[in-house]
Amino acid sequence: MLSKIFIIFIQVLLALDPGYAEAQTWIRAGYYIDGVGDFPISGVNSSLFTHLFCGFADINFTSYQLSFSLSEEKQFSSFTEVVKQKNPSVVTLLSIWGTSANYSTFSLMVSDSSYRNSFIDLSIKIARLYGFQGLDLFWLSPTTSSDMLNAGVLFREWRVATELEARNSSHSQLILTARLPWTNSAGNPVGSIQQYLNWVHVPAVGYWIPEETNFTSPHAALYDPKSVNTDELIKAWIVNGLSANKLVLCLPYFGFACVEITKNE
Ligand SMILES: *[C@@H]1O[C@H](CO)[C@@H](O)[C@H](O)[C@H]1NC(C)=O
Ligand SMILES: *[C@@H]1O[C@H](CO)[C@@H](O)[C@H](O)[C@H]1NC(C)=O
Ligand SMILES: *[C@@H]1O[C@H](CO)[C@@H](O)[C@H](O)[C@H]1NC(C)=O
Ligand SMILES: *[C@@H]1O[C@H](CO)[C@@H](O)[C@H](O)[C@H]1NC(C)=O
Ligand SMILES: *[C@@H]1O[C@H](CO)[C@@H](O)[C@H](O)[C@H]1NC(C)=O
Repeated sequence: MLSKIFIIFIQVLLALDPGYAEAQTWIRAGYYIDGVGDFPISGVNSSLFTHLFCGFADINFTSYQLSFSLSEEKQFSSFTEVVKQKNPSVVTLLSIWGTSANYSTFSLMVSDSSYRNSFIDLSIKIARLYGFQGLDLFWLSPTTSSDMLNAGVLFREWRVATELEARNSSHSQLILTARLPWTNSAGNPVGSIQQYLNWVHVPAVGYWIPEETNFTSPHAALYDPKSVNTDELIKAWIVNGLSANKLVLCLPYFGFACVEITKNE
């Protein structure tokens, strides 16, 4: 059952500029997605990672707050405690996307200041409630320049809110990250990402997935497999002003189940 596979994307912070090399802390992050079932959280060897992302929380399309099922809640609430047993210093983040998240929900949420506020407020509360140390926005389908502009506004407001929250509590500030596609046509909010996010993920994975598996890669739809080129994607971010230490390259480390595909001839 491919919907229940365990997927980890290993991510490595880019060190394109040798000047960064010394001061830099390398990020080795993985996504734990829909592990209910085949791959228990306790099966993750968290000593391999500096950061682990738990996914995914959805956005409710009427309240614009985070939403998740009871089984997801069980997963989210135990995630940090379980992965820290093997590696107490691993940093955990809650990733927000969700299988049913649709384009218009995200697009509407970022476009309206009261929706953004609901989203920001609850995401911070949920992160604290379950012991996460950061939040990640996994948004693969912004298509218009106003989506991108609004995403930039969300990142600023999210950062301001986490600063306030940290000042007002005994916690250290939440880490904020995102996965956004590079779009030449819409123009990414590079300035806002540079200033307000800890880093952004550049996928070098999932451009193409065999159709027979029925597994929809979150990235496959975005890129034309004949023209996609990771090098170009990285350069696009950097040429447009993002510093290399804000880019985390996602390499494939799929735990795909071996599926025997029988074709009816
Ligand atoms: C987990 O990873 C660490 C670090 O690479 C390694 O030393 C250890 O053997 C691994 N444990 C398991 C159970 O694979
Ligand atoms: C979404 O939010 C509305 C309003 O708060 C609530 O009635 C509804 O049950 C929520 N839906 C889900 C799937 O959580
Ligand atoms: C997607 O979001 C829109 C608006 O937020 C909502 O009206 C629609 O029902 C949602 N569709 C699905 C499949 O969740
Ligand atoms: C700061 O904490 C107090 C007490 O917990 C709370 O009432 C207030 O709303 C908080 N302010 C912010 C900006 O989070
Ligand atoms: C893919 O989907 C089709 C139609 O829903 C189904 O008949 C087929 O068994 C699925 N293949 C796999 C490998 O799950």
